[in-house]
Amino acid sequence: MSTIRVSRPKPFDCTFRVPGDKSISHRSIMFGAIARGETLVEGFLPGADCLSTISAFRQMGVDIERDSETSVRILGRGFDGLREPVQPLDVGNSGTTIRLLLGILAGTSFFSTVVGDDSIARRPMGRVVNPLREMGAQIYGRQEGRFTPLAIRGAKLTGLTYESPVASAQVKSCLLLAGLSADGVTAVREPSRSRDHTERMLPAFGVHVRTSEGEVSVQGGQSLAGTQVKVPGDISSAAFLLAAALMVPGSRVTIDDVGLNPTRTGILDAFHMMGAEVAVEQTGMWCNEPVGRVTVQADELKGIEIGGKLIPRLIDEIPVLAVVATQAAGETVIRDAAELKVKETNRISTTAQELRKLGAHVEETDDGLIISGPTPLKGGVCQSRGDHRIGMAMVIAGLGAAAEVCVEGSEAIDISFPGFSNFIEKIKCGQI
Ligand code: S3P
Repeated sequence: MSTIRVSRPKPFDCTFRVPGDKSISHRSIMFGAIARGETLVEGFLPGADCLSTISAFRQMGVDIERDSETSVRILGRGFDGLREPVQPLDVGNSGTTIRLLLGILAGTSFFSTVVGDDSIARRPMGRVVNPLREMGAQIYGRQEGRFTPLAIRGAKLTGLTYESPVASAQVKSCLLLAGLSADGVTAVREPSRSRDHTERMLPAFGVHVRTSEGEVSVQGGQSLAGTQVKVPGDISSAAFLLAAALMVPGSRVTIDDVGLNPTRTGILDAFHMMGAEVAVEQTGMWCNEPVGRVTVQADELKGIEIGGKLIPRLIDEIPVLAVVATQAAGETVIRDAAELKVKETNRISTTAQELRKLGAHVEETDDGLIISGPTPLKGGVCQSRGDHRIGMAMVIAGLGAAAEVCVEGSEAIDISFPGFSNFIEKIKCGQI
């Protein structure tokens, strides 16, 4: 088990480029694998989750070369070019891999099994298995297919119009992928808009996607053609470094070449509402995704109330938002975020429990958190709980603490942000 030790640095002014976006990296491999021809991915995230996606498709006979850590070449032979895997496909810790993969496996002509780690074994699969079954998928698994391990007997699928009870890009993307091999049209409606990377990337592979207010649909039978994908920096990783600037007053952080997809930038809105100065400049469009530069700094922060449509736009950033909220004056109330309970850990309780170890005032609610501040954080020992974002959030908390904070289990951070501790070291070098 590895440990990161942090203590409060002097104010700093740093500019960073963060590793590639996790959601986009997964999709670039999956779409490249079912496309015909070569797909070249630049800026790929070499985190453990995305490597699980690569190994799953290699097991199905797809030729995937790593020209470098961040550059991947996929030689797709089309959806029908996938081969029956001999061993179970192991998705490791990756919810995105398993849920999107199920959408692909459901319409193949072969048998496959899917397993993951202990965290994956606790995460709900019924949200994709049930609508896939409505499309004709044959999926079997533990507790009637609600949990891994799962077995899939590829079947002929029929298009479906599905009203998702949750705003989930994994559910939406799974069904759209299944829809590509189904007869007729597959449409997904969701209560509020989840991240739209699938809708943005499929057209780059030549797929026609219809999007209208509250609904996304695809016509079955469309094939994908290999293309080039340049992956922007992950705003979910950038959020930790931006938050670092807010934990050490007088500091400033700039992130270059970061994804600015509006379905992902809720954290910037939240920081702005808290009183931080947030400057955003779009510099380009990479594979239909807006990209640019973000700078954040703050003098004083105030508590905010958030919920509703903002939540899916910052769902992965709530642990670090809670950390920043400990330094904001008054109450920060986070509502409508029950989805946090089914992430890599139950992030409502893990965030609250870990922050309390440093003296923070955090109350858990049914669908969120209430944080009261400002609270001077004290030193202590925290655990990642095997959850990359909890690990990083506690390191950022440590930057604002009066004494050393040790974050145990920091190896989990490699899931989404390889090299994170080097960035924390650079903060020390950027001291003003
Ligand atoms: C993701 C969707 C989100 C997010 C996850 C990545 C994706 O999950 O939390 O980190 O790439 O589609 P849900 O779809 O469960 O909201």
